[in-house]
Amino acid sequence: MLFLSKNALFDNKKGIRGGIPIVFPHFGPWPIGPQHGFARIQMWEVEQLPSVDVSGNVVAIIALVDNAETRKIWDFKFKLRMTLTLLKCCFSMDLHVTNTGDAEFNFTTLIHTYFRLPDVTKSRVLGLTGCKYFDKTTGQDIQSETREQLSVDRNIDNIYANVPDELTLTGGPAGRTIKITKKGFPDTVVWNPWVDGAQKMADFGDDEYPLMLCVEVGHVVKKVSLAPAQEFHASQTLQIQCPE
Ligand code: BG6
Repeated sequence: MLFLSKNALFDNKKGIRGGIPIVFPHFGPWPIGPQHGFARIQMWEVEQLPSVDVSGNVVAIIALVDNAETRKIWDFKFKLRMTLTLLKCCFSMDLHVTNTGDAEFNFTTLIHTYFRLPDVTKSRVLGLTGCKYFDKTTGQDIQSETREQLSVDRNIDNIYANVPDELTLTGGPAGRTIKITKKGFPDTVVWNPWVDGAQKMADFGDDEYPLMLCVEVGHVVKKVSLAPAQEFHASQTLQIQCPE
């Protein structure tokens, strides 16, 4: 169900072009560090290997703790813990961010899911109606999304604020619909680079833009402030609904 570009690079220098990169501690261009922060190019540790819990779910836990490299860019002590839970038609990601240092810090974070689609122009995103958004492609703030069903037929890079916790993406592989349920992530980004954007990215095939859409839930419009010993928790659940 997830897109991975045929040109994706696994070099720890840039995020992998596909899958579900984790954006932390900064969404977007970052004057002091790499775009979208360092979490997506750091090596995470496996805290718990995939194992079956009492309900029959497969659960794995990965973690990232501050280190010399992250502190050189952003001098704070933190722990990111991501619990990954897989059921037959459902995949959950639970993110905990803990401030393990003695100074308060601010951050933005986002789960940058690349959905694989047979034809993005036939897919629709539901659930954004009435939300205020920033259109990065024009630099304009739009007061309210008027479309009940968002379709994509050009470069799109919209940052929606205060989005309802249930979104739907139609037109997935084999006609599947994907229900996206989020908690603690107020915002949602919808991104597709289209023809020109695809050509500018070395790690993305020129002909791949119709085959994906990023619907990214996060806390990006306003920063999260975390005092020492405080924890931030947010999650995303993807549920596949197969056609009858
Ligand atoms: C999206 C941003 O989240 O990620 C876009 O809103 C950006 O502006 C896109 O182009 C991809 O970013 P990157 O760093 O993976 O090329």
